Amino acid sequence: MSLTVVTGSASGIGAATRAALLEEGKDVIGVDLAGADITADLSTREGRRGAVEAVLQRCGGTLDGLVLCAGLGPHVDDAERIVAVNYFGTIAMLDGLFPALRKGDHPAAVVVSSVSSTHITWDDNPLAAVVESGDEAGVGPALEVGGEYKGQFAYAGSKNALTVAVRRRVAEWGAAGVRLNTVAPGSVETPLLSQGMADPRYGQAIRDFVAPIPRHAKPEEVATLISYLLSPKAGFVHGSQLVIDGGVDALLRPTRF
Ligand code: NAI
Repeated sequence: MSLTVVTGSASGIGAATRAALLEEGKDVIGVDLAGADITADLSTREGRRGAVEAVLQRCGGTLDGLVLCAGLGPHVDDAERIVAVNYFGTIAMLDGLFPALRKGDHPAAVVVSSVSSTHITWDDNPLAAVVESGDEAGVGPALEVGGEYKGQFAYAGSKNALTVAVRRRVAEWGAAGVRLNTVAPGSVETPLLSQGMADPRYGQAIRDFVAPIPRHAKPEEVATLISYLLSPKAGFVHGSQLVIDGGVDALLRPTRF
């Protein structure tokens, strides 16, 4: 039976993805801070190492799917932790489980990025140099440029870097027969969004911004897209970022794609 690892499986998009995959008859190993098959804190090196080891032990070294949802929103006060989870936690799982995916059946991975990944360019991303050199200690100083909006820089910067990291891996992963894509959601009805909307710095902007399809996505809608990307039906989709945002990106950047 097909086996997929989902991080952030206890809530929101991760929980909806886990449920969708189980509904399809697949096996799922959930990873989260609590309420999952494997409990791990992906903000720390030890937590990431432990999570990779625990997954490999549980799956016997072979995996068919990987979905990386675990993440923190821009409202979180500890901006370095946002980068630690969103970027370093995700990359550690991605690279740590690549050998297991290579042995899988029609293997594929999906990284949950964000439309925020396009709110900043790689050339303007203050995190570009530190994340690519793996310099976690350099994240704090790099974020100083954000002032009171450090959280937003940490969020958009880490999501931009994630999408770049996926695109940089297409040759190696493609040659290994493992497909790798990102999804870029706009606003999705999850606890992360509710916390952002309640935040005095970001709440009003989130509430004021209405997508051309004037509602937020349901986590299940994002899960359906992820499930498609994992399936052999998406066999030639590789290195892509699939936007699911009710038209926001097209509205804001009609000439850039
Ligand atoms: P959520 O808050 O419902 O779920 C996030 C999950 O990640 C939680 O279960 C949480 O415990 C887990 N997590 C957080 N820190 C962790 C750590 N240190 N170690 C292990 N697990 C940890 O949020 P949601 O909305 O489902 O977010 C999932 C992904 O989707 C995130 O990467 C987020 O950035 C992304 N996203 C969400 C959007 C939204 O509007 N909700 C929009 C665009 C992207």
